[in-house]
This record gives sequence, structure tokens and C-alpha cells, in this order.
Amino acid sequence: MENHSFPSKAMAPTLKKLLPFFLFSIFSFSPISSHHHPLDPLTPPEFNIIRSIVLSSYAGSNHNLTFQYVGLDEPDKQDILSWLSNQTTTNYSPRRAFVITRLNKQTHEIILDLSTKSIISDKIYTGHGYPVLNMEEQTTASELPLTYPPFMESIKARGLNISEVVCSTYSVGWFGERKSSRVLKILCYYTNGTVNIYARPLEGITVVVDLDEMKIKEYHDKLKVPVPKAEDTEYRLSEQKPPFGPRLNGATILQPKGPGFVIEGHTIRSVFTV
Ligand SMILES: *[C@@H]1O[C@H](CO)[C@@H](O)[C@H](O)[C@H]1NC(C)=O
Ligand SMILES: *[C@@H]1O[C@H](CO)[C@@H](O)[C@H](O)[C@H]1NC(C)=O
Ligand SMILES: *[C@@H]1O[C@H](CO)[C@@H](O)[C@H](O)[C@H]1NC(C)=O
Ligand SMILES: *[C@@H]1O[C@H](CO)[C@@H](O)[C@H](O)[C@H]1NC(C)=O
Repeated sequence: MENHSFPSKAMAPTLKKLLPFFLFSIFSFSPISSHHHPLDPLTPPEFNIIRSIVLSSYAGSNHNLTFQYVGLDEPDKQDILSWLSNQTTTNYSPRRAFVITRLNKQTHEIILDLSTKSIISDKIYTGHGYPVLNMEEQTTASELPLTYPPFMESIKARGLNISEVVCSTYSVGWFGERKSSRVLKILCYYTNGTVNIYARPLEGITVVVDLDEMKIKEYHDKLKVPVPKAEDTEYRLSEQKPPFGPRLNGATILQPKGPGFVIEGHTIRSVFTV
């Protein structure tokens, strides 16, 4: 069952007989099984363990710790090769996670061991390049303009309705500055009557948010560019009418011998039939 090598053509008849079993195993596979592949992604229970280890390790510090990245710390190639040659639960390198957090305006790169539930290393990253943005900080930053009085004034001056404004976040890039801070540019759009917000940008307004302060630190309203109209900006297939709309003539795709692949947990294997 755990043979992950690509089957040769000579093995095909055997595989054909095994196919029903493989298909059954798709549904019976348990991702929390101790017998998983070393490169399987972290499971929800593992994410919970990681979260509680990291939070408890920095507990009492009363800081705003945020998770920017959590993923598998991949075992060395040698360990994977040795596991492939003898797939037993004991011949299994310990599961490790790689975590990037933001704490006290510093970026921490943490490696932790899931078997011993302990932090192995914690390195403060000081180079350029921000940690990956997380959803929460992007959402919070994109909503700041909507309650920022100068922005509300700009929208009013354009004769627009602030309830119909949505904003989005954009990274500013790094152009060789010696000192860089975590800032995002916020661009806003006008929805009123369309879902295609990118067709209706509110140009001429610059909003810069400092993520560590979670505050607007720069604001300019330099010029009023007319907002394009909402008509004819619809792009959703379901809303299109001929000649652009869906014209399906009942095409059918058949695979009489079944799919050419089998999924086992997080492993996809090709199946060759003759
Ligand atoms: C944590 O974040 C909240 C909300 O942004 C802020 O009010 C508070 O001062 C922060 N605490 C620390 C210790 O930085
Ligand atoms: C496979 O690994 C197990 C546990 O590490 C070990 O006892 C066994 O001897 C190994 N088998 C081979 C063929 O290397
Ligand atoms: C919003 O869209 C409606 C319908 O197209 C239009 O009548 C109205 O004037 C628009 N309002 C604003 C403030 O742009
Ligand atoms: C502004 O938009 C909101 C939400 O779409 C709507 O309920 C409200 O009536 C609009 N206000 C004006 C003045 O058009």
C-alpha cells in the first residue's frame, strides 16, 4: 500500500487488479494516521499543537504575537530516501514545523518539534524582505480608510457613497532602502452597481498604512480622476448572454478505464493500464 515508486508497464496487470482496493483506500485514508508520508502537509490537530506551543512559550509577555506563516519543516532528502526504502513507523524522522511570527516589531523564524512538543530554535530575522502578510492584518489595514476622516472627506468631495467603497492592500516593494518598515499601500474601488471593482478604481488618492502601528501614516488626495461607469463591466460567466454567454452543446468526456491516477492521502500516483 505504501509503495510510492512509479509502477513500470510490466506491473500494470497487477495494478489493474488492485485498482478497486486503491479506490477504496482513497476513502478510508486517515490524514492523522501515524503512517503518513514525511512530506505530508501539517494536519489541523498539528496546527493546534503548534499554536498552543508558540503562544505558551511567549505567554505573559503581553505582546501582540501574530502568525505570518506556519508550514512543515521538510526533513532532509536523505531521511526521506531512507524512509522510502523501509517504510515503518519507527523509521520516521520527527515531524517539525517552520513558523514565522511577528512579535514586538520583530520577525521570528521558529522551528518546533511536534513529537516532543518543543521549540528547537528561534531566530530573529533582520534582513530585508517582509514576512509573508497574513489575512488578518491585510483585512484590518484595508478597512482603515473607511473610518479615516480625510478619506471620508475625499469620497464626499467626489460625490460618492462611502458605503459602496471597498479597499485592497498592495505591497510597496523594496528598492534598496537601508531601513525598511512594514508598510502597505491601500487602493480603493467603487462598487455601486458592479462586482468588477477593478474597473472602478478611485485614482488620485494615496493611502499608506504602517502594519506595526496599524495606522495610516501617509495620506494624499492629489487629483480627482473620474470613476468609470458600472455598465458593461460584468464578467461573471453566469451573467453573460449570447454571443458571450454559455453555449454548452452537451459535450461529454469519457474515461472508460477510469482515471489515470490514484490519490492516496496527499500522494498522487499515475496508473498505467494496457
Ligand atoms: C496590541 O494590539 C492592540 C490593538 O492593535 C493595541 O491596542 C495594544 O496596545 C497592543 N498591545 C501591545 C502590547 O502592543
Ligand atoms: C526497517 O526499519 C526497522 C525499524 O527502524 C528495522 O527494525 C528493520 O530492520 C528495517 N528493515 C530493513 C530491511 O532495513
Ligand atoms: C449608484 O448606482 C445607482 C444605480 O446605478 C445610481 O442611480 C446612483 O446614482 C449611484 N450612486 C452614487 C452615489 O454613485
Ligand atoms: C449608500 O449606500 C448604501 C449601501 O449600498 C445605501 O444603503 C445608501 O442608501 C446609500 N446612500 C446614498 C445617499 O445613496
